[in-house]
Amino acid sequence: MAKKSFYVCNNCGSVQQKWYGKCPDCGEWNTLEERENEIKTEKKHKTFSAAKTISATPLNRIEVSSRMRFSTGLEEFDRVLGGGIVEGSVTLLAGEPGIGKSTLLLQICNEIARFGTILYVSGEESSAQIKLRAKRLGVEAEELYILSETNMNKIIPEINALRPKIVIIDSIQTMYDDDVASAPGSVTQVKQSAMMLMQEAKTENVSILIVGHVNKDGAIAGPKVLEHIVDAVLYFDGDRQHAYRMIHAAKNRFGSTNEIGVFEMGSVGLIQVENPSAVLLSQRPRGVSGSCAVCVMEGSRPLLAEVQALSSSTVYPSPKRTSQGIDFNRLALILAVLEKRLGYRFSANDVYINVAGGLRIEEPAVDLALALSLISSYKNVAVPEDAVAFGEIGLAGECRSVPNIEQRISEAARMGFSKIVLPKRCTVKNVPDGVELIKVQGIFDLLGFLGV
Ligand code: TYD
Ligand code: MG
Repeated sequence: MAKKSFYVCNNCGSVQQKWYGKCPDCGEWNTLEERENEIKTEKKHKTFSAAKTISATPLNRIEVSSRMRFSTGLEEFDRVLGGGIVEGSVTLLAGEPGIGKSTLLLQICNEIARFGTILYVSGEESSAQIKLRAKRLGVEAEELYILSETNMNKIIPEINALRPKIVIIDSIQTMYDDDVASAPGSVTQVKQSAMMLMQEAKTENVSILIVGHVNKDGAIAGPKVLEHIVDAVLYFDGDRQHAYRMIHAAKNRFGSTNEIGVFEMGSVGLIQVENPSAVLLSQRPRGVSGSCAVCVMEGSRPLLAEVQALSSSTVYPSPKRTSQGIDFNRLALILAVLEKRLGYRFSANDVYINVAGGLRIEEPAVDLALALSLISSYKNVAVPEDAVAFGEIGLAGECRSVPNIEQRISEAARMGFSKIVLPKRCTVKNVPDGVELIKVQGIFDLLGFLGV
């Protein structure tokens, strides 16, 4: 048996074959520690005899007790969770600092306290601070216990003693296991604390909600390192400058990952937004070039939003492009198609894109509205106010069909739009009264629609 050493960084957890004074991965000094690895070299091929008893069970004979779900009282949040917090599950709520994670979790305590005791462990705020916030949010559940602690080896016995139904950990970056040498917030500590919580959830059947901070530049100890450990990962985002916040699931072992929940940050915490389309369109400018409404699907729900484009001649050697709410590569593609197929010189123009209200659109169905707003800004001609567009654009400038056409049309009609620009290939059976469908085959047809 040979012994071979390797070195583990206690800041970022990376494994090195050699010792370095400075970790090559995270750049921290003096963080590499030697570990020994025993390598069995004698036998290359193992032979096995059959096990005496079989421990695998046929799928049909596995019994499951139906798990309870705790409704949070916020329909928007429940929908993203897949119908409520599942008993014994571990959910990570990730988002930038200050987005409202602590507010949301404290707020739902009033409702979830109906199901049993809640333990709120905070490593960021003192009990008094939490009390003040709870007072402001009108949370006065008797079954809510607050613990201001960051040492996991003290938190776990507390959970075992109190036996709560739900535990809130705010935030995972402040928690540490004192048996591990690295600092709180490092990958090793974050993973270790999450593992301990996961084990606790499964053995004690307690639901755990974990807060995780994300940084804009995706800091090393962000929630990404936990995604494979926990049962569900929810991202809370939106612009801090805007009052609107959205929650979507990146992973969910107990539900769909397509749903989003929309909230507004007010003076007494987060308020659910029941008609997000109306909110996202509420401040739309009238008769101005460079704006086009779009209907996107967020999970099972159609949502109307406004895509804004501003194109102006550049003063820089290489033109500036910024895009908020739409993938930058998608913008580059649409600009290239417009330049190549229509001969518009966007390469001499700065281009700024914004989806009003802080919504992030990932669907290619936004292409048509993006192209319309770009042409509209370039030519300085407004898109008709009562028009909404959706459809994907291909590299040849052709317009491709997108799913859920009827749902999008009825949402647009509900919001008072009467002109719907959509791909020619779509088959629409029921057209609501007073709605005109403008079918386009490619981007050339958009010019006719705008009259440019
Ligand atoms: P917070 O929940 O502390 O953010 P996180 O836990 O994600 O870091 O909330 C942050 C912001 O929300 C804070 O800047 C203040 C604001 N806020 C309100 O506007 N209204 C309220 O009722 C509360 C409680 C907070
Ligand atoms: Mg917080």
